[in-house]
Amino acid sequence: MSKILVTGGAGFIGSTLVDKLIAEGHRVAVIDDLSSGREDYVNPAAKFYRADIGSSEIEEIFKSEKPESVYHLAAQIEVPKSMADPVRDNRINVLGGLNILENCRRHGVKKIIFSSTGGAIYGDAEEIPTTESFPPYPVSFYGIHKLTFEKYLNCYYQVYGLDYTILRFANVYGPRQFKGGEAGVIAIFIDNAVKGSASVQYGDGRQTRDFVYVDDVVRALSLSKDIECRGEINIGLGSETSLLDIRRDIEKALGQPIIVKEAPAKEGEQRRSCLNCQRAKNVLDWEAAVNLEEGIKRTIAWAKSRIAQDL
Ligand SMILES: NC(=O)c1ccc[n+]([C@@H]2O[C@H](COP(=O)([O-])OP(=O)(O)OC[C@H]3O[C@@H](n4cnc5c(N)ncnc54)[C@H](O)[C@@H]3O)[C@@H](O)[C@H]2O)c1
Repeated sequence: MSKILVTGGAGFIGSTLVDKLIAEGHRVAVIDDLSSGREDYVNPAAKFYRADIGSSEIEEIFKSEKPESVYHLAAQIEVPKSMADPVRDNRINVLGGLNILENCRRHGVKKIIFSSTGGAIYGDAEEIPTTESFPPYPVSFYGIHKLTFEKYLNCYYQVYGLDYTILRFANVYGPRQFKGGEAGVIAIFIDNAVKGSASVQYGDGRQTRDFVYVDDVVRALSLSKDIECRGEINIGLGSETSLLDIRRDIEKALGQPIIVKEAPAKEGEQRRSCLNCQRAKNVLDWEAAVNLEEGIKRTIAWAKSRIAQDL
């Protein structure tokens, strides 16, 4: 059992991770400002602190919790919002993260695990599937800020010996996903479809993404605390799926057509994205276990149960 702090632990991936860490027998504390997360997602066995990662309250939390490891997932996750207000995105994703790092350094944290992005960080990469060694040139401020924080992690290790691992997630989907999110397309399409409402498709639908199910991502996060790998690890399914294919897969799983309106592509959006996940296999002994068909089925079942409970 160890003492673990999870920032963003009321969010989609963070709350699923907290459930897993608690099931593994760890003592978990959560920091989240609930800007997109929900308190009812936080496992009742975790200690919950409602706080902004950039605030001075963080110091008190580190003092009283004394975590051995930290998972840093709190973030502004919407690419379009980062384009509309890069200063705010920087304040949360760089300065907020830096406040967490400073507290890790001051309060004896041994390791920090960071949820970076394997989508926005590589920009429009020529190498598909993209490996971790491909030089990242993000085409969004969100991607730049994730990359910047990766560099801080490496510097904190070199200067202060704070251990770290970076996971670069593909497009994560599954139950509890925030529907305004970076990778929310499956969540949005499914939520609207089960309610009988229309979804908006930005661009021609031929843009591709690598979609990975949340339980697979959380398994990779859990494995990361026990390994020695100071570097970046892609976490994805390793296959490329277009939005048009996603629409078809959801329709197939639902057994009915979904209503989709078309709109121009968003600023900062990439055309193609797919990750080479060989390093995850080598270092973490991890590969995705849930295929798209199964993941979509599970997400639809969850969305229907939420509607039945009127949540
Ligand atoms: N969902 C994806 O496909 C995806 C892909 C790549 C990377 N990521 C990264 O994974 C992490 C989790 O993303 P998610 O999809 O679960 O999103 P999410 O929005 O559900 O989770 C983010 C959480 O951070 C909290 N938060 C935001 N700003 C905060 C602040 N200033 N102080 C404290 N808490 C704050 C939110 O309330 C939310 O609970 C993020 O770092 C995101 O960048 C996600």
